[in-house]
Amino acid sequence: MTEEIVKSALSKVMYPGFTKDIVTFGFVKDINIDGTAVSFTVAITSSAPEVAQQIKDEATEALKYVGATAVNCHVQAPQMPKESSSHGKNIAPQVKNFLMVSSGKGGVGKSTTSVNIAIALAAQGLKVGLLDADIYGPNVPRMMGVADVKPEVNGNKVLPIKAYGIEMMSMGSLMEDGQSLIWRGAMIMKAIEQFLRDILWSELDCLVIDMPPGTGDAQLTLAQSVPVTAGLTVTTPQSVSLDDSRRSLDMFKKLNIPIAGIIENMSGFIAPDTGVEYDIFGKGTSTPMAKEFDTEIIAEIPIEPAVRTGGDEGKPVTFSAPDSESAKRFVAAAASIWATIEEINANGGVDNQSVQPTTPPGVSACSTGGSKAAPASSGGGCGCS
Ligand SMILES: Nc1ncnc2c1ncn2[C@@H]1O[C@H](COP(=O)(O)OP(=O)(O)O)[C@@H](O)[C@H]1O
Ligand SMILES: [Mg+2]
Repeated sequence: MTEEIVKSALSKVMYPGFTKDIVTFGFVKDINIDGTAVSFTVAITSSAPEVAQQIKDEATEALKYVGATAVNCHVQAPQMPKESSSHGKNIAPQVKNFLMVSSGKGGVGKSTTSVNIAIALAAQGLKVGLLDADIYGPNVPRMMGVADVKPEVNGNKVLPIKAYGIEMMSMGSLMEDGQSLIWRGAMIMKAIEQFLRDILWSELDCLVIDMPPGTGDAQLTLAQSVPVTAGLTVTTPQSVSLDDSRRSLDMFKKLNIPIAGIIENMSGFIAPDTGVEYDIFGKGTSTPMAKEFDTEIIAEIPIEPAVRTGGDEGKPVTFSAPDSESAKRFVAAAASIWATIEEINANGGVDNQSVQPTTPPGVSACSTGGSKAAPASSGGGCGCS
């Protein structure tokens, strides 16, 4: 047995959820060979026990196949993050952190951002889910390349769809093509709750949630159902978009959701032929707003044709064009968001007690449908008035 044989055998072992093997990732270390006995270490970035077990099993099998008689595979994994330090109501307790992605208006790149941030977080070794809560315009399945995939149903629960190393669920995956639904407040609330309760999400480090544009029932229901760890606002540099984004940042404040930052999308244009960056909508105009809310612009994503084609073709840039400027900026933004989330948890986490409804369960004082059913004495305490 030689080190070459060992490495070649281990290069058949894929890192769970990725299309790259553990040798190419650079995770294999300290190979020791004694006759046909092999020992080595695999240093992984995920703390999920099933990831470690899968690697152990597959590595042992691969080495036995090439003649090893004894295999000692030591998996070095980061500490399991301590139970989420967050408090209050959580109807999806297997999820440790929730990232709410919001914007003031549609078409600013909220879904594009959610998809690419989710993939970039997963590439950091985190277990990530992506919930497309934009029930009016569910675009995530197409952007993730799973527009035609229907989810598996397990009893009265639904399994999330897997793509690019993450788990995904969307209203688009549950309804027939092109079907449009008219949502009233109470229905939106039910849908958001079911997305959290009735989807069989794994133990996730982070669930990225692509919200409908604006600040409405969906946002409030989410904040009341789970302790949202952090909020991310997506805006374009034009003043009209900024006005709306201010409302979205203000909503985070009202709901006691810490702000992880602002992504200024369509910030400049990078010409694909020359690589020259042009300013179109006025770059950096979001900076004063960031200061006002004591946060930062964590990425300026240029208009790049690869971002649009990536979305339309279901091959997000962070995966399909990792060397593009946009991909690099999404990756840096994801790292910044995760650092913020870890800091929030280290400082005691979040608590959603203060935004719980004072109305009966299932009835929102804010929703059009619910307000009629709510007792006249109720109404306060929902954080949205
Ligand atoms: N930085 C960008 N460069 C090029 N096209 C982009 C960029 N950001 C978003 N797009 C495209 O703009 C359209 C709207 O983006 P989308 O993410 O669907 O917005 P939203 O979810 O806010 O409605 C999509 O076709 C998307 O591919
Ligand atoms: Mg969208």
